[in-house]
This record gives sequence, C-alpha cells and structure tokens, in this order.
Amino acid sequence: MLNADKLDFMPKKWYNIVPDLPVPISPPRDRSPDSSSIELLNRVIPKEVLRQEFTSSRYEDIPDEVLEQYVQIGRPTPLIRARNLERHLRFDGRIFFKYEGATATGSHKINTAIPQAFYAAREGIKEITTETGAGQWGTATALAASLNGLRSNVFMVRVSHDQKPLRKTIMNLYGANVFASPSPMTSFGKGILQNNPNHPGSLGIAISEAVQYALDNDFRYLLGSVMNSVITHQSIIGLETKSQLADLGIEPDTMIGCVGGGSNFCGFSYPMIDNKNIEMIASAATEVPKFSKGEFRYDNIDTAGILPQLKMLTLGSDYVPEGIYSGGLRYHGVAPSLSLLIRGGRIETSEVTESASMEAMKIFSRTQGIIPAPESAHAIATVIDYVKNPSNRGKDVVFNLSGHGLMDLSIFGDGKV
Ligand SMILES: Cc1ncc(COP(=O)(O)O)c(C=O)c1O
Repeated sequence: MLNADKLDFMPKKWYNIVPDLPVPISPPRDRSPDSSSIELLNRVIPKEVLRQEFTSSRYEDIPDEVLEQYVQIGRPTPLIRARNLERHLRFDGRIFFKYEGATATGSHKINTAIPQAFYAAREGIKEITTETGAGQWGTATALAASLNGLRSNVFMVRVSHDQKPLRKTIMNLYGANVFASPSPMTSFGKGILQNNPNHPGSLGIAISEAVQYALDNDFRYLLGSVMNSVITHQSIIGLETKSQLADLGIEPDTMIGCVGGGSNFCGFSYPMIDNKNIEMIASAATEVPKFSKGEFRYDNIDTAGILPQLKMLTLGSDYVPEGIYSGGLRYHGVAPSLSLLIRGGRIETSEVTESASMEAMKIFSRTQGIIPAPESAHAIATVIDYVKNPSNRGKDVVFNLSGHGLMDLSIFGDGKV
C-alpha cells in the first residue's frame, strides 16, 4: 500500500475523554499563592496545545499536515495477532498487540511530539526545548521538530547522556542540539556545575533547564506525558486499534497497557472506554507502586516543582524510585483522568516486578521476534499473568506494545540472557 493511500485509513479527529469522565477533572493549580506556574505554562506551551489542555470538547480535528506526518513516521501502526505467544502460553483465546515500536522513532512518543511541534511552528516559533531521561521522548521531539522546520534543544540527564551515546547520536542525526544536564546553557545549570562539575543530573534538573532555556529565548517547551492534551494526541493509538478490530469483527474482552505518566495506556484504551464490556488493566512497576501506595492529591508535575500541580494519584514528587531499567515507568504520578478512572473502578491495575518484566521481554522476543521496550514488557507480563488465570480462558486480549527495546539492551548487562 502506498503511503498516500494510508491517509485514507487514518482517523481524522483525536478523542478527548474529559467530557466523558464520571466526575469532573480538577484544574491545575499553583503550588503556592506566591508562585506563578500557571502563568508560566501560558508563556512556554504552544497556545493551541494549551487550548487543548483545557477544552471540554470531545473531539479535536487532526490538522492535515499532522496526518501526513503521522503517515510518514509509520502510522497507522500494525495490529498483530501474537499466535506464537498464544501457543507458548497454551492459551485458547486470542492475543493481539498494537505495535507502536513500528514508528520511525520506535515508540508512541512521536504521536504527541508531532502535533506539539506543528502548533509551535504555526505560531511562528523557531525553536523548541525539552528534557529527556532515557531518550525516547527526546528522540521523538528531535524528529518532530525537524519535520516541522524547527530547531530543537534537548536537555538530557547527564548519566543517561554518558551511558547512552547512541541515543544522543540519533537525536543529533535528527537535527537536535543535545546538552548533558546540568549544562552551562542556563543559569540554573551553571549554578549546579559550579558546586559540582561532575553532577550526574536528574529529570527535575533537566526539566528546569529546558523550561528556563525556553523562557530566556522565547522558545516553546514540549511536554511528553501526563497532560490531557498529550493524552488526546495519543488517542490516535486507540482510534486506530478500534477500527482495526472492527475490520476483523472483534470486540476485545480485555485491553492492557503500561503506565509511566499514563499517555500510551490512556491513548490506547480511552477511545473504547464507553464499551463497559471491555475490561481495562493498567500495568505499572512494583518498584514504583503508584497504584497500590499512591495518594490522590495535588502534587507537582515535575520533581523540580516549576510546572503547576495536578490532582492525581502520586507517590510524591520527591519520591526516589529504585533504579529500575524502565526509566519511563519511574514517574511518581498518574495522569489525572486515569487517576479518576482507577479510583472509580472503571480501570483495574497491576504492578509487575522488574524480573517478571525481563522474563516477559525474553518470552516475547523468542516467540514473536520483536524485542519490547522494558516499559512495554510490563504490559506483556500482565498479559501473561492474565491469560494463565483459568477464568480468562478463551478471551480476546489486546495490549499496547508502546515501543521496541533495541536501544535498551544494556538491561541485560554482560549479554548473558
Ligand atoms: C516505550 C515507552 N513506553 C511507555 C512509557 C511510559 O510513558 P507513558 O505512560 O506516558 O506512556 C515510556 C516513557 O518514557 C516509553 O518510552
């Protein structure tokens, strides 16, 4: 099929769950009366993204230019039946996965990077900034910027920057400036480096630098998860899945995905949330027990407390998780809409240990040939547990494979797997 034809198969609107939530979502708030983090959002986030953040309309048109870029980076992504995994698990139902690793940058993150970069460019902005930990989000931002004629500046946590040189190379190839954070590019970074030239950095510091650099230069800052607008963009995953399943005449029994901030799981599941027959299970890391131990309250979005606070399930923005490999699952909170749906009982949860997720990574690689990202492997581990339960025999299970793990192989250390 020619790429040009694929446009015909693309959903033309994103879905926004906000008007369909059982209880209204609480708005973001300043972290203290004398801070102006909401005002800061107005200055660093592209205007259209901000509008989408607070809209209560159910559907948002996807601009033609964004649709074209979605096709260019590999959308629609395939929905694949994992027959060999079914055989391996002796499961008499069906397992399907939506493969977001098939995008050019290897994960779902590009689904929101593209519209955010597009809106920034349309507003006359020339450069954007963001932070990245493990590198998936920075890579997506770098490509989205170039596709939209923007320069990009990625503040990469110094330890990851030093440990993952290939990630930096990819971002550079896509045209991004990549700075090990703390960096000399901002006064905040300079201050930290003066005290400790070898500071390893943290996501909080990298966010602070990316936001400050955007403010200082009238650039715009791109956000990778948690926010309503990001989840709306990610609904492209679930909208495609819905029509692919409909083409096959399948109504799934169960949908499963992994949760860092929540963007891939929400984007995958929300377009089918109105079908009460479908069980939905969100999977997180045992080492970051936000479902079982999180409190529902206002908390900082970012560890540095620069951005506003959101009401969500949270372990506390100062929570220091164990150093698990799934960098994308180490986030302390759960997107506000997902927090509400979990509390209301519409969405179930599971927590998976690092060793169970690594085992799932091996099983999936050996049965299906695709090496999943360690984050996505949590969803696979939850699928495996689910289908082993005799009461789930014969069911149709669909999960979201949010990214491939080809850049994460250091998880296996010396290569002995
Ligand atoms: C491949 C992959 N899956 C999942 C996640 C978790 O993020 P979210 O919950 O926002 O989808 C990440 C985040 O970095 C990721 O890179």
